[in-house]
Amino acid sequence: MDSDLIKLVNRLQDTFSNLGGELDMPQLVVVGSQSAGKSSVLENIVGRDFLPRGQGIVTRRPLVLQLIHTPLPDPTASPSSSTPMYTEWAQFLHIDKRFTDFNEIRREIEQETFRVAGQNKGVSKLPISLRIYSPDVLDLTLVDLPGLTKIPVGDQPSDIERQIRNLVLDYISKPNSVILAVSAANVDLANSDSLKLARSVDPQGRRTIGVLTKLDLMDAGTNALDILTGRVYPLKLGFIGVVNRSQQDINSEKTMSDALDSETEFFRNHSAYRNIAHKNGTKYLARTLNQVLMNHIRDKLPDMKARLNTLMGQAQQELNNFGDAAIFGDKNQQGALVLRLMNQFAHDFIASIEGTKVDIS
Ligand code: GDP
Ligand code: NA
Ligand code: MG
Repeated sequence: MDSDLIKLVNRLQDTFSNLGGELDMPQLVVVGSQSAGKSSVLENIVGRDFLPRGQGIVTRRPLVLQLIHTPLPDPTASPSSSTPMYTEWAQFLHIDKRFTDFNEIRREIEQETFRVAGQNKGVSKLPISLRIYSPDVLDLTLVDLPGLTKIPVGDQPSDIERQIRNLVLDYISKPNSVILAVSAANVDLANSDSLKLARSVDPQGRRTIGVLTKLDLMDAGTNALDILTGRVYPLKLGFIGVVNRSQQDINSEKTMSDALDSETEFFRNHSAYRNIAHKNGTKYLARTLNQVLMNHIRDKLPDMKARLNTLMGQAQQELNNFGDAAIFGDKNQQGALVLRLMNQFAHDFIASIEGTKVDIS
């Protein structure tokens, strides 16, 4: 994730929590049919290998993943002799343990899925809650969901289609959620359940990003150029094509960075996509998400200003009623000064954010 954006969001969040307010960041939710590549896309966005992926129904409980920004440890601090210092770790809600090995996180997700949703393809709406602490992330929540499906298998109830649909709707109907509507390029887009569902909660397409996976698996002689250039299905935020790791790549433990390189090569060398290569791929998807987050923050600025003014008004009122001593102790004169400085600082800060431009090209 873009480090300038991380810094900006963190400063903004700090400022507002100092003022007793809150900057709630959007939640990214992946939606799509079973095996469309939802978990693969999420994993690429986080930049770590930790999600169970595979053929058939693998994601059987919602995974609510909170990324939490932690500052790097002070390099000048004297290192403790016995405990190694980790800059990145994970913690589940259901178990009191710090995970630093991402493969172990995947195994824990699998076990916890089995524990609640059973051995035989059952689905549970009870979410698994996971937090990843890292200096490289910004405070953001991502949600991985079971895929939309039609026909019950294993222990699934006869109304599995409706159950999963309602589960997905619970998450994507929140106005604060950004929808990644994932469809596989080797399936006709007209049958895309993710787009239908996204449109039902976001008819204007303001918070839906179309993600087209498996471009590498299309029949020879066909391509998805019309979809990727918005001529088939209009979405304000557009469609972004990606090539995730195949099952073969997963089995042979192909690394994320090798996969990113192959993906870049794929778009550059493909005769149909060469000219739109810079507007596709996992990296471009990440940049687009940054832009969406930035716009979200901008949209919230008027609210923040209003909140700030209210807080300032309240503080002023208290000063008037009880005198500075009530709030700031004995230093009467200082009280009013602090208030004025705080006000000035906050307004300057907001003004500086409003002027910020994030370049996504
Ligand atoms: P989910 O069920 O939607 O979460 O999909 P997964 O991320 O678990 O992926 C399902 C299967 O499709 C896995 O075997 C992936 O390796 C494979 N897959 C996902 N995306 C792609 C892609 O872009 N290209 C290829 N070749 N395989 C993919
Ligand atoms: Na799957
Ligand atoms: Mg999945």
